[in-house]
Amino acid sequence: MKAMRLIDIDGPSLDMIETIMDRAVALSKGSEPLSQTHTIANVFFEPSTRTRVSFEMAATRLGLRVINLDGERSSMTKGESVLDTLATLHAMGVELAVLRHDQTGICHELSEQLPSSLGLINAGDGCGHHPTQALLDAATLTAKGVHLSEVKVVICGDLRHSRVARSNVALLKRLGVGEVGLAGPEGLMPTSGSGFDGLRHYDNLDAALIDADVVMMLRVQKERMDASDGRLDLADYHRHWGLTAERLAKAKPECWVMHPGPMNRGVELSAQVADGPQSLILDQARMSVFTRMAIFEALLS
Ligand code: NCD
Repeated sequence: MKAMRLIDIDGPSLDMIETIMDRAVALSKGSEPLSQTHTIANVFFEPSTRTRVSFEMAATRLGLRVINLDGERSSMTKGESVLDTLATLHAMGVELAVLRHDQTGICHELSEQLPSSLGLINAGDGCGHHPTQALLDAATLTAKGVHLSEVKVVICGDLRHSRVARSNVALLKRLGVGEVGLAGPEGLMPTSGSGFDGLRHYDNLDAALIDADVVMMLRVQKERMDASDGRLDLADYHRHWGLTAERLAKAKPECWVMHPGPMNRGVELSAQVADGPQSLILDQARMSVFTRMAIFEALLS
């Protein structure tokens, strides 16, 4: 049987996207999970706290059998390819793999090469895609009663290296969002043809925030920067692009603040904003479990 995959936001039908989001919201309000008997593997080759833990919690709550493979301690260190590792797990009975890897595009490549009976979820590939993060961000907003077609969303920060931003833009477009504006330093703006074309770029955050209903802050991804942009002065970054209470006051009074985590307080946003009443950061963490449960249900049932 051909297994289901979630590699990027363009893959699933709009119907499936809406089913996942509605189901995530229903689960967060106490709907009973569909119990599952499948075996899944979390295969993480990059550091991760919330993504790895929430996939594990989601799987456990559904009754799935879960194998956690830490890439750093696997046979990959002996030279085995990711393809061979996943094929081996599948031969042992794993029916779906959740993969995080620092190589951009690896999930698309593997999707061509793996047996079609193995399900695959992209949990973040380099600077590529992070579809489950986008789904959980949209579900978090929906759970708060936000109608995406009516809102202005500002995404601010290191857009060039952000798989979160790329998947969020793709999803917000598919869901017919009112407007998406991009803000961040010139050197961290996305290159053309990388999924952000046609969106308005603001050269300062204060201007971007005018009339904003949602602002998504992105982590400065030092590990993905080359030597030329790696010399970023973080205090200077915060002065220009950090979300402070004073800046947030430029947006609509009820503007929601999001960050996929891990966040750097005092860099992307001030502690006051991160802990303030408009912050959805812990709601995102909570919804990440329900959204990933809904994703497993959609792919496995
Ligand atoms: C993001 C990731 O790893 O892509 N975090 C996450 O999944 N919650 C964002 C980041 O690392 O900055």
